[in-house]
Amino acid sequence: MKVGFIGLGIMGSRMAANLQKHDYEVIIFNRTQDKATSLINNGALWADTPEVVAKQVDIIFTMLANPEAIMNAALGEHGFLDNLAPNSLWVDCSTVNPSFSRQMAMLAQDKQVRFLDAPVAGSKNQAEKAQLVFMVGGDATDVKTCEPLFEAMGSRFIHVGEHGMGTSLKLANNLLLGTTMAAFAEAVTLGEALGISQEMLLNVLLGGAVAAPFLSTKKEMLEQDNYEAEFPLQWMQKDLHMVSIAAHDSGVAVPVTSNVKELYRLAMQQGLGEKDFSAIYSFLKQGF
Ligand SMILES: NC(=O)c1ccc[n+]([C@@H]2O[C@H](COP(=O)([O-])OP(=O)(O)OC[C@H]3O[C@@H](n4cnc5c(N)ncnc54)[C@H](OP(=O)(O)O)[C@@H]3O)[C@@H](O)[C@H]2O)c1
Repeated sequence: MKVGFIGLGIMGSRMAANLQKHDYEVIIFNRTQDKATSLINNGALWADTPEVVAKQVDIIFTMLANPEAIMNAALGEHGFLDNLAPNSLWVDCSTVNPSFSRQMAMLAQDKQVRFLDAPVAGSKNQAEKAQLVFMVGGDATDVKTCEPLFEAMGSRFIHVGEHGMGTSLKLANNLLLGTTMAAFAEAVTLGEALGISQEMLLNVLLGGAVAAPFLSTKKEMLEQDNYEAEFPLQWMQKDLHMVSIAAHDSGVAVPVTSNVKELYRLAMQQGLGEKDFSAIYSFLKQGF
């Protein structure tokens, strides 16, 4: 089966590689072609535009930074949406707000293209090891079509409900991820300022009941003050902004998220946007 894949960053490049390992013929496009080199060396077909991808496939995946990037790829010059065959399927794995997913589903429907929002839980390592968890919104028949593809890239998929429900669950997940990381960084920073060693703080807090399990995977980054991105801080800030939009759309207040979102923005202004989001610790530590 020929599968299109657009967006070959940290996540998309690894997801596409896992499709290749399962013998799918993968046709790829990325704004920056360099990131496609190893996939091409392993047999993927490069397309010069999203339009060229669309003309060759029945299923197309997008794993892009944000709504703007998705709009560019889908509807910009040489975009893919006008060029997919009727009844083909677009699976958007990017993290976006649910109303945007629903808008994409409607635009796709206008072109007789089926749509799933299927963002993922898991980061660089899980993408590499095909251990992602897909949170899916859309029709059950379309989810069924994608089942083998989800299985090639992940360990689990959850059909949450109709269009926009996959991204809804994903935002609840990332609200917790982003605020928890910031709270942990703040706790360690305070402890150190009060005279406790970083070593003791990390060992005691991470060994106790209050720290979330994912925080242990960030321990080495904090210890070594080296934040090579698994999940770029700028996309965490973007995700919390997506949460703000979703909260506004649904009339919910998200005061904790709003504060933390601005904290990540301040860190971006200090040049930390492309670092891992755990670099929020280094940002908070600057002050002393
Ligand atoms: N990393 C994680 O742990 C993780 C986990 C779950 C979900 N996500 C989500 O997955 C998506 C991709 O994240 P990532 O970590 O793979 O990020 P990334 O490495 O920064 O990749 C971003 C991708 O979007 C493309 N892009 C960015 N701006 C664009 C624009 N204006 N026009 C066209 N293409 C554009 C990039 O193209 P270039 O290569 O040309 O820059 C690249 O293909 C995001 O929605 C993120 O929130 C990430």
